Amino acid sequence: MNRISTGIEGLDKLLNGGLIPKRVYLISGPPGTGKTTLSLHFLNEGAKKGEKVLMISLMESEESLRRTIEHFKMEDSIEILDLSPSIELMKDGIHLFGEEPYDGARLTIRNAIIEKIESVGPKRVVIDGTSSLRSLHSDIYLYRQQILSLLRYLLSKSATVMLVSGVTEEVKDDDLRLIADCVISIKKDEESGELKIGVLKYRNSRHERGYHHMKIDEEGITVYPRIHPQRFLKSFELEKIPSGISELDEMMRGGIERGSVTIVGGPPGIGKSTLISHFIKTAAEMGNNSAIYLFDEKLEMMLKRCENTGIPMREMIKEGKVLIREIEPLEYTSEEFTHLVLKETEERDLKVVVIDSLDGYE
Ligand SMILES: Nc1ncnc2c1ncn2[C@@H]1O[C@H](COP(=O)(O)OP(=O)(O)OP(=O)(O)O)[C@@H](O)[C@H]1O
Ligand SMILES: [Mg+2]
Repeated sequence: MNRISTGIEGLDKLLNGGLIPKRVYLISGPPGTGKTTLSLHFLNEGAKKGEKVLMISLMESEESLRRTIEHFKMEDSIEILDLSPSIELMKDGIHLFGEEPYDGARLTIRNAIIEKIESVGPKRVVIDGTSSLRSLHSDIYLYRQQILSLLRYLLSKSATVMLVSGVTEEVKDDDLRLIADCVISIKKDEESGELKIGVLKYRNSRHERGYHHMKIDEEGITVYPRIHPQRFLKSFELEKIPSGISELDEMMRGGIERGSVTIVGGPPGIGKSTLISHFIKTAAEMGNNSAIYLFDEKLEMMLKRCENTGIPMREMIKEGKVLIREIEPLEYTSEEFTHLVLKETEERDLKVVVIDSLDGYE
C-alpha cells in the first residue's frame, strides 16, 4: 500500500512505513507533550514536497504557531487558519457568557473551515485543539455527527487528516479514538520528564506495539522504536580477527570471531583498552572499520596512550578506518545510544564495535 511520511522517521517505522493517505489520524496526549509539534512535522513533510498543507488551530494563535515553525526551521508555506478565541469575542460578550452561547461560534468555525479548504485545496490537514469543538456542543450525539461530517467532507477533498487532542485525567477523547482510523498516543513520565509514544490502533495496517522513547530538541521530534534483537539475526562469514599478539592469538585459536561478543575484564589500569586497540589495528589492516564509544576516558588521553604503545590510532582515524566517540552519559538515554550505534554501524559498515566501558554504559 502506498504510504506517506509523518516527517518523523522513527514514527514512520512504528506505523509500518507511514500513513495511509486519505485517512483520519488522532494524536492524543496530555498538555505540553509535543502534539502540536508532531502535527507540524506532518505538515512540514508535505510542504517540503510542494504540497498544499493546512493547520486549523482552535486553541493556539497563528503567531504562536509561526514561532514554533520558525524555531524548528520548518516551511513558511504551511497555511494556518487561526480559529483561536480572539479579543473580538471578549468585546462581543454575548457569545461568551450567554444562555445559548455557541451557535454563532459554531457557524463561524464551520464557514471559515469550508472557505479555507476550498481556497487552499490542502492534501494534509491538521485540526489542533479538537477537544474545544466538543465544548461547543451540549449534545454529545450532535458533536459526533458534526465531527464525522466535517471529516467526511475533508476526506472527500482527498486530504489526509490529523486531529490533535489534549487529554487530562478528567478530559478523555474516547469518541475521537473510535472515529479515527489510527490513534497515536503520547505519554509523559512526570518524574523523569521522559516522553513515550505508541500506536494504539491502525485500521487495515500492521503497526509496532507498545510505547517507544521520544525526544524533543532543537531539531524537533525524534522517535526511537524499540529494537528487536531477533530481527538482526542474519548469517555472516566465519572470520577471526587476531590481536597481532601471537601468544594471545594462539590461546584464542586465531582471535575474536565475527558476530561474537567479547567482554574484556580486569581491574582498572591493567591495559584493557590498550588490548582492544591491538584488535582494532589488525581489523583495520584486514580492511574492517571499527568504532569505539568512550564512556570513561577522554579521547585525547586514549590517543596519547595509543601513541605510547605504538598503535597508529590517529592515522587510522584519519583514514576513516576508526571512529572514536566520547559519550557523555547524561546526554543519551540507553535507547538513544543504541540507535546511535545501530545507525553508525549501518552507515560506516562497522565490523568491530567497542563499548569502553560497560560500567560507563550502565
Ligand atoms: N517555539 C518553540 N520554541 C522552543 N521550544 C518549543 C517551541 N515549540 C515547542 N517547543 C518544545 O516542544 C514542546 C512541546 O510543545 P507542543 O506545543 O508541541 O506541545 P503540545 O502537546 O501541543 O502542548 P499543548 O497541550 O499545550 O497544546 C515544548 O514543551 C517545548 O519544549
Ligand atoms: Mg498543542
